[in-house]
Formats: sequence, C-alpha cells, structure tokens
Amino acid sequence: MCGIIGYIGSKMAAPLLLEGLQALEYRGYDSAGAALLQSGRLDIVRRAGRVENLKTPLNELAQGACVGIAHTRWATHGAPTEHNAHPHRSADARWAVVHNGIIENADALRDRLVADGVAFASETDTEVIPQLLARAEGAPLEALRQTLAQLAGSWALGILCAHAPDALFAACQSSPLLIGAAQDGMYLASDAAAFGDDVFALYRLNDGEMAVLRADSVAFYDSEGAPVRKEAAPFSRRAHGSDKGMYTHYMRKEIDEQPDAVRRTLAQFFSDAGALRLPALLPSSPRRVFLIACGSAYHACVTAKYVIEELAAVPCEAWVASEFRYAMPLIGKGDVAVFVSQSGETADTLAALRLATVHGAHTVGIVNVPDSAIARACALVLPTLAGAEIAVATTKAYSAQLAVLYALAAHWAQAGGQECTDFLDELRRLPEKISAALTSEARAKAVAQEIHKEEHAYFIGRGVDYATALEGSLKLKEISYLHSEAYPAGELKHGTISLIAPGTPVIALACTARLLPKTAANIREVTARGARVFALTGAGADQNTLDAEQIIAVPTAHPLLMPSLSVIPLQLLAYHVAALRGCDIDKPKNLAKSVTVE
Ligand code: AGP
Repeated sequence: MCGIIGYIGSKMAAPLLLEGLQALEYRGYDSAGAALLQSGRLDIVRRAGRVENLKTPLNELAQGACVGIAHTRWATHGAPTEHNAHPHRSADARWAVVHNGIIENADALRDRLVADGVAFASETDTEVIPQLLARAEGAPLEALRQTLAQLAGSWALGILCAHAPDALFAACQSSPLLIGAAQDGMYLASDAAAFGDDVFALYRLNDGEMAVLRADSVAFYDSEGAPVRKEAAPFSRRAHGSDKGMYTHYMRKEIDEQPDAVRRTLAQFFSDAGALRLPALLPSSPRRVFLIACGSAYHACVTAKYVIEELAAVPCEAWVASEFRYAMPLIGKGDVAVFVSQSGETADTLAALRLATVHGAHTVGIVNVPDSAIARACALVLPTLAGAEIAVATTKAYSAQLAVLYALAAHWAQAGGQECTDFLDELRRLPEKISAALTSEARAKAVAQEIHKEEHAYFIGRGVDYATALEGSLKLKEISYLHSEAYPAGELKHGTISLIAPGTPVIALACTARLLPKTAANIREVTARGARVFALTGAGADQNTLDAEQIIAVPTAHPLLMPSLSVIPLQLLAYHVAALRGCDIDKPKNLAKSVTVE
C-alpha cells in the first residue's frame, strides 16, 4: 500500500526522504517519487519500480533542499508507470502533492477541470488535487481548505507550495497520517516506521484536519480552518521498529516470535491468580457475534466461529469485511461485532465497523496498532501485543489474534455457565505448545522440497482444521506464488476433486481427533486418484492410518486450540517453498501490508 514521508527542517531533505521510503517498502508498492522545494522552485523526480531507482537522480537534484515530500505508490488508478507516480504537480508548477487513498469523485472533478482548459499529465485520481489547489483563491492554507471541501473519498496528503517555501502542508480523511517532531525539523509520514531515529514526539492527524509543518513547529486546523490544539505522544524509533537481527527475512523472525507474542497477548486477560479477566465493558451475553475482517484476520474469524459456538454456544457469523459492508446484515442492538485487524487501517474493515456501529451493535476491536483508525472507532479494544510486524505476510499477529479470540470464547462460555476449565488450562500453556510446534521446521522443509516446483496445491481439513487450511493456503500462495486452494475435506468430492491428478500435492490437516476417521476417508479419495498427501496431525495418527506420503507431527492440545499449533508448520512450509522459488518473501509482488483502499 502507498507510503508517504515528508520533512522540513535544517537537515538535507533528500537522504531523509530516501531512508523513509526504504522503511515503507515493506508496505508494498510499484513506483516511487519525491519533490524538493528549494529557492522557490519545486523539483520532482519519479521512477517506476524500486526506491533504489530514485537514489541517484534525487541526490543529483538535491543541492541544499531542506523541504521535501516523497511517496511509494501502489497503483489503484492508472498503470504503475513513472508518469503516474507521485508527487503530482499543478499545471502552473506551483503545487506538488503526494496522496494515499482514493478520490472517489475524481472523474467528475477532472471533467470539470479539463472543460476549463486544464491539461492533465497522468491517469491518476490524485492529480485533481494539485490542479484544484492551483485554481483556489487565498493563502495556501485557505486554498487547501477550499480544495478538500470539493473532494469525496479518502486521503492522506503531503503538499508543497512554491509560494510557501517555509511550510509543508498535510491533511487526512480515512487514511492514516502522522507528524513527528525531531530536534532538527518536522516529519510527515503515513506510518511511524518511516520516522527517523531523532523523532521524539508524535501527533496523529484526525479525519478532516489539516496541518502546517515548519522547521520548528506544527499547527493544526479543522476543516473550517479554525486552529486545533493537539498533544504530542512520546515516540521512540527503537521501541517501534525492529530489525532482522540474525534472520534472513522478517517473516522467519516473526514466525519465531509467536510464542512471546501470544504470551504477552494472553497475559492481559489472566489475573495473577490465573483467573480469566476480560474488560467489564465487554457484553457478557451477546445475542449474536459477528466476526469481521479481511485476509488472514478473516481466517482467524472463521476459526473463532467454530470455537465460540462449540465452547460458549453463542451464535456466530464470520464475514469478509468487503462483503459485510455492502450486504444488508441483520445486525443490531444486543449483537457484538468483533473487528480483527493487524494494521487497524484496513479500509474494508473500517467501513464495516462504521456500518455495524450505525446498526447499533457493540463493537470490539482486536488490533495490533493501538492508536489506529479501527482501534479508535471501536467501543472496546482487546489489543494483540505482537509488536511491529514488518513482513507483509502475517504470522505473529495472526497467532495473537487467535489468542484473543480464544479468550473471548472462554469469557462468553464462563458467562453462560459453560464448562471450559480444560480449555483454559491448555490456553495458559499455549505459548509453550507453539514453541514446540516450531520444531516441525525440518519436516516442513522436507515437504517444501517435494512441492516447490508444482503449479497447484490443495489444502483440506474439517472444522477448525478447515479454517487453518484457509490460512495455510493463503500463506503459500501470497509469498511463493504457487497457486493453492483450501477446501472443507468433505467438500472436495463435490467438484474440485476433478482437478486431482497423479502427483497433485494435497496438504491434509487431520488435527481434530474426533473427525480423524472422516478426514482419513477424504484423504483416501484423493490418493485413489494419485494425489501426493502430506498430512499434519497430532499424536496417534501415522502414515498408514492416514495413507500419507509424509506426516508433519503437531503437538497436541485442546482440539479447539489446535489451529494455533497446526498453522506453524504451514507458515514454515510457505516460507521454505518461497525461499526455494527465490521469491521476495518479506515484500511479495502486488501485496501491501495494510490495504487502506477498498
Ligand atoms: C496476510 O498474510 C495478508 N497480508 C493479508 O491477508 C492481511 O491479513 C489482510 O490484508 C488484513 O490486514 P489487517 O489484519 O491489517 O486488517
């Protein structure tokens, strides 16, 4: 997803902009650019491809510029080319703009501007912004206010004006934007990961607000242009960021961080005496629970549906957020809507949250970024304490999401008088069990050797194993580009089994003991057609029982907690297949860490 970095101060801007863009690369992009303001002139450099391509031309341009904005673009309107890359400039070269988000009424605005004789240089929605700024009246801040009043959609903006050489302008609406204060200047960024080590305080811009950054100060204004007072929060780059240490990839490091991430997350919900303790604000007897998210976070919701219904006997629905927001959901007062999100900025999940709020549901956020938009919009937040997750493919945040959802299930089970002592005992021991599951790496690597040259793979499972199969399939395809599909094990024979041919790899999850005979039968349906089956299972089942070519043993735990253990070898399998295929594991093509557009 797009990234923004800006700087105004006493230091040379170009190196700081490049460092900021490199820190934002993990979010996913396909072009990059920067604008420098020096001696009343706006100079712009843009390149398709990697940030590295900007380095030489930007440094050649930089001379002494101390004011600049830069951007990594994940294409939504217009191909990922140099001329569509940001910053975009007004026809009179007075304004330069970088933008995250989507201007939903861009076509109508462009038509009106073209009819007035404005020549556009790109196919982007963003370019309407500098063109409107150039036609607005009054001082730069007033011109910005007038321009924003004409826009519909979402935006995080960094703006330079040749007529205001000592200022950097910013504005946001439904897309995150932060201001960082440092000793030698002020930073603007869409993600704190882009801030330099010298940033010591952080301001978050709220929807509808504007800001004017100067070398030693920042002023905030509401959508009418009235001043707004804001308190800064302390910030430390070291506490926020992370580095790879001895690991080759952030993803491999974050896989290993899962026991601690789950331990920290669970510790919030148990008293010193070991009793389960969730916030009093949490409704204890919801009429129905709606679990809403995207991608891997949605797979955590699918898992939680099985767990909550079986443990607490509370009706649950798991929804993909982009479906929920345009459906006519029967949600209302007395229902609890749970929104799961690592970034807390996913546009579809945020929109679904706003819809559920309007319908009167009690909203709960399970979020990894505490002051994110989703966290701030929920009535209650149950944080995942996974720490900054840099790899685009989520692992530790996913495991922490499962941990919070298990605690929720137990809370509602206890409130409803359901027995869940065994579940809670095993939940307290989950971090150790996850550590044990990490020892399956050699087996996962052996399976990766067997399948990495394949074009297709299938994941099957029943109950919570099916939910984990969804996540294992996504992990494999999103980082190794090996196509895969996940199916309920009993469903494959209703069509897709026609794709099973001799040698087709099938990853079978058989970690739910009571369903083992059924899953074993489904495995035979595919081996009978020549499939190569690689089975994950707990103690007790072996290659003969499961007719599998290879077995990946998974530590055993309460059946409803097995997803946290069986997902580990699937993460490692995806990682090693991607490594064998020479893929960019931390920054897979076309993907973004936080999808802030719908
Ligand atoms: C997970 O590996 C993916 N990167 C993606 O599916 C992600 O889970 C999804 O985009 C939701 O993101 P969020 O958790 O930040 O809302």
